[in-house]
Amino acid sequence: MNLVTETLFIYLYDALAARIVRDDRIISLQYDAQYVLDDQSAPISLQFPLTTTPYSGKTVEFFLENLLPDRPEVRTQWARDAGLDSIDAFDLLAIYGEDVAGGLEIYPYEKSQQRKTALTPITDASIAARIRQIRNDSTQWNMKDTAGGQFSLGGAQGKFALALVDNQWFEPSGAHPSTHIFKPGVNNFDGSDITEHVMMRVAEQLGLETAQTSIRQFDGEHVLVVERFDREYYGGSLRRIHQEDFAQATGTPVLRKYESDGGPGYKDMLSVITKHVNPEFIQSARRALAHSLVFFWIMGHADAHSKNFSVRILPNNVSLTPLYDLNCSLAFELESTCKALDYTAFDNVALAMSVNKKFKIGDFTLDSLNEINRECELEPNYSAVFAAYVAANIQAILIDVIEELPIEYQQLQAVKNLPYVIFSQTKRVKHLLSPESQE
Ligand SMILES: Nc1ncnc2c1ncn2[C@@H]1O[C@H](COP(=O)(O)OP(=O)(O)O)[C@@H](O)[C@H]1O
Ligand SMILES: [Mg+2]
Repeated sequence: MNLVTETLFIYLYDALAARIVRDDRIISLQYDAQYVLDDQSAPISLQFPLTTTPYSGKTVEFFLENLLPDRPEVRTQWARDAGLDSIDAFDLLAIYGEDVAGGLEIYPYEKSQQRKTALTPITDASIAARIRQIRNDSTQWNMKDTAGGQFSLGGAQGKFALALVDNQWFEPSGAHPSTHIFKPGVNNFDGSDITEHVMMRVAEQLGLETAQTSIRQFDGEHVLVVERFDREYYGGSLRRIHQEDFAQATGTPVLRKYESDGGPGYKDMLSVITKHVNPEFIQSARRALAHSLVFFWIMGHADAHSKNFSVRILPNNVSLTPLYDLNCSLAFELESTCKALDYTAFDNVALAMSVNKKFKIGDFTLDSLNEINRECELEPNYSAVFAAYVAANIQAILIDVIEELPIEYQQLQAVKNLPYVIFSQTKRVKHLLSPESQE
């Protein structure tokens, strides 16, 4: 089947917001004239302020591709499953664009022509089968035999999104937003779903704003279940809240999501905050970003690239979303390395964003903390005080979180490594902040 789709209709907050037209392979995005006139309309992206003048070219393509899985193999699989003859974002989103990150609904027709509205339930056994399928082959995010279930999300890990309604799981659709994201973990990193949950809960208890997570079991398969913060109940029904990641907010292609590949760094994120966040919340957004940079250095979270931060976009209101996709890369080092309690073993682990032009954990110094304070316009001691607070509290919090897990998860090697690597990292902080090293 060769699906020829030349217009995508984009809905946001129940209104037809824009059309994306492909004309002889040139893609352009044009807001609906009515939508632009309404002062309660929100932009689709910070890259595309509301105007009747069309946007065209690469930025439109980059925006669309950032709504799809990061890995080309997954996009190829999705194109094959749908019988497409290309993996262009435009073609894929005509099929998979009904339920994406944020508030958009994307259809190859006007929504009034949409037919299917029934919810399709999914059994625990088929959720387990889907988890096993991803564990077996991380490019296989969808089951071939599911009735509906068209969702799309970015990221490299195998995942799927479902809607929880009255204690029953359903496939999402345009009419029925997904409420949770299922992440079975990274193949060959046994227990990474559990460590992700642990680090998310630790972050929350340290005062950072995070997505809610739980570990659930389906037919013996454990999986990280992440509650979506881009969904909310409003007047008794579920609705989507718009957001975009910082690759989209800065017009960056998915291939450059890492700063080391030419993508955005934290200063680019600060520029977005300064330009778009409502003035009364700019300072708290800068603090939140400073907390993330310091905390990710301490916890050894090497994957905090531009697609792992997002902004929420409401009409006339932009703010940072809670944090998501946190993990401790260090817990997957050799057991002997972790148990050596020597933080210099992690010196060469590179973080996703540089501070003071340095990426490596071991190159993060007092100058790095000072740079964060300066760039985020914080008090001179701010980041050091926060680092000391994290170092003083993280171990006890971590132990509590781990002890709440069922014993079988506590015995996974990566989970067992966590207290050792976090202890080593607190030693790193204490050493850096000690009076001797400040002389
Ligand atoms: N709790 C959440 N609420 C809303 N959107 C989320 C949430 N968690 C993740 N996302 C969106 O889904 C994308 C993929 O999820 P993520 O956990 O980052 O997967 P991966 O580990 O594969 O990168 C994110 O980039 C973000 O756009
Ligand atoms: Mg991610």
